[in-house]
Amino acid sequence: MKGESKEMSVDFDKAIEEMQASIIEDARKVYSEKVIERWLRPKYMGEMEKSQGCGKVKGPCGDTMKIFLSIHDEKIVDARFITDGCATSIAAGSMACELATGKNIKDAFKISEEIILKSLDGLPEESTHCALLASNTLKEALTDYLTSKNEPWRRLYKKQ
Ligand code: FES
Repeated sequence: MKGESKEMSVDFDKAIEEMQASIIEDARKVYSEKVIERWLRPKYMGEMEKSQGCGKVKGPCGDTMKIFLSIHDEKIVDARFITDGCATSIAAGSMACELATGKNIKDAFKISEEIILKSLDGLPEESTHCALLASNTLKEALTDYLTSKNEPWRRLYKKQ
């Protein structure tokens, strides 16, 4: 009996593995390797307890993204994002954080939807708004940093 249930669990695991492989195979027909890589292993996903800039934006599709920035001497030293959006929003959020890390504030503001799309080797037309969501969220986080820097009292009243 015990051996039987172990066998069933192995079959189940194998079925799940095959299902995942087939989903990834289908995704490869539509998305670039860069998108797949960041969707499956997003490097910058997570929250930041003490960020110097935080932005939250809801896209036209209803999905939300949040980006946290750690800034030192006007340079982004670390970035994190979270999203309740689709696979491409995960890839776009990850790319936005990747591109922002190491940049100064002025250059980070230039990270547009087009730059994110180009860095991901493109997205299907119906998914380009996910890159716009990532770019807008990054800009919101940068604006939050600048606002808090000029009016630090705001941060005391703001819940991240
Ligand atoms: Fe909403 Fe991608 S962010 S569909």
